[in-house]
Amino acid sequence: MRSIAFIAPLAILQGAAAQQIYDIWQTTWDRSNLFTYFQPTPDPIDFVTPGAAASADISVDDSSVYQTIYGFGASLTDSSAQLLSNLKTQNSANYWELMDYLFNVTDGANAAGFSYIRVPLGASDFSASLYSLDDTSGDTSLGSFNIDAAPSYVFSTLTDILSINNRLSVHILPWSPPGWMKSGSTMDGGTLDSQYVDTMANYLLKSLQGFQSKNIPVYALSIQNEPENSNPTYPSCSMPVAQEAAIGTALRSLMNSNGFTSTKLIGYEHNWSDAANYPVQLMQQAGSSFDGVSFHCYEGAVSDMSSFTSQYPSKEVYLTECTGTIGSDWWSDIKWYMDNLFIVGPQYGASNGLMWNLALDGNGDPILSGTNSCASPGCRGVAQINSDGSYSLNQEFYSMAQASKAIIPKDVGGPFGQRIGVSVSGSLSWSLIVGAYVTGRVSSTDWNRYAIVVLNWDDSSTTTWNPVPVEATIEFRGMQATYTFPVGVTTLWWYAAPN
Ligand SMILES: *[C@@H]1O[C@H](CO)[C@@H](O)[C@H](O)[C@H]1NC(C)=O
Ligand SMILES: *[C@@H]1O[C@H](CO)[C@@H](O)[C@H](O)[C@H]1NC(C)=O
Repeated sequence: MRSIAFIAPLAILQGAAAQQIYDIWQTTWDRSNLFTYFQPTPDPIDFVTPGAAASADISVDDSSVYQTIYGFGASLTDSSAQLLSNLKTQNSANYWELMDYLFNVTDGANAAGFSYIRVPLGASDFSASLYSLDDTSGDTSLGSFNIDAAPSYVFSTLTDILSINNRLSVHILPWSPPGWMKSGSTMDGGTLDSQYVDTMANYLLKSLQGFQSKNIPVYALSIQNEPENSNPTYPSCSMPVAQEAAIGTALRSLMNSNGFTSTKLIGYEHNWSDAANYPVQLMQQAGSSFDGVSFHCYEGAVSDMSSFTSQYPSKEVYLTECTGTIGSDWWSDIKWYMDNLFIVGPQYGASNGLMWNLALDGNGDPILSGTNSCASPGCRGVAQINSDGSYSLNQEFYSMAQASKAIIPKDVGGPFGQRIGVSVSGSLSWSLIVGAYVTGRVSSTDWNRYAIVVLNWDDSSTTTWNPVPVEATIEFRGMQATYTFPVGVTTLWWYAAPN
């Protein structure tokens, strides 16, 4: 890939006219390109004095700059970590090849650069056994708290990811408090007894300290996964708003007095459908303790997030969970993911985008024994790891890789991308779903990277299948480039002086 250092001197001589598209990453509906890098034809594509707008005309407006995107990724469940760890033992070349392809965030690497990982505290429905980090009944001082109750493969895998990508944001949260703090005395379903609110806040502080003791920096912490879901077959806990607010208030204060002032506290962690209620009430009751809230895709629509963001525009919004289902259609899934999570999610304010399990086998295993979660045909991981030491990547990977490439730092130690304004007009405007991002530089004299992620879904899939490439004009600062987008997802970028 050509570097900006090579382009810039020429570009400066030629002024604004020298903005050029050099680099393209593409995934097409027919899989002829799978997150494939190439240089365009002509190479490069110049931004020139505008001619007529194409039937799909993309206007990139870098005078509107919105939230930073901290990255795309998935949850490192116990099951995912176990499979990855087994792969490392069985075929370490395949392991490191896969890990590099997932996480290498270096500009120019042939890799997705996933930079956001969510990690369950204690067991989830994707664990080998039911456990918490303190299973000593009645231990209100948490003297028996033990971070090593978690399988060692969780920490070794996280350490390996950090060795590839030291910009990783790690977001930790429990699927349930320890069973002894709950009605029914089990992690499987039920509620937290109200007398353990402060104990639970302390448990979460100790979890932060446990990760610190493993040299794993924690970016964010949530109090309870899916607080509106109590299921007796796997770790879960129904937690009313007032209780999450009380734990959050106590925990924020503990974090501030124990060196975790910059660690974010994120609330809710559940379906879009209740965006107007639970997360809004949580902010009303304990807004100063929380940096934002996170959403799951399982019910409602991405647009529901507006009923939260319109009331709390200064709070952050995260998309922390959605799962693929085994057997679903590859290209239909990619269209849905781009239109609901990885292009359109940020347009509704999301600061990240995550799927559920980072890795599973071809049957959606291993899964907690006896759970009815992810019932047949099973949940699909971002990566599939097979018992023979081979692996493959699913549609969830390609969707997120295309989005991730647009926002990873340009420079070592540089900032992640920020969303900027973009709109599509013309008679074929419906055919393209577009996100636009600016990525700043470490040196103020270097040019910013401007990237667009484009879904072309003009495929007539509801009538007679007919994928149609769409020629589009791209307008930027009064200049115009032209590119024909095949049906698929395309990420491309150019460089320009900071606005
Ligand atoms: C990441 O990719 C870059 C560029 O291809 C390569 O030089 C580097 O070794 C990779 N880093 C790791 C940790 O694999
Ligand atoms: C929300 O999501 C969960 C998945 O955990 C699902 O089981 C549940 O039915 C949904 N409930 C509501 C009310 O949105």
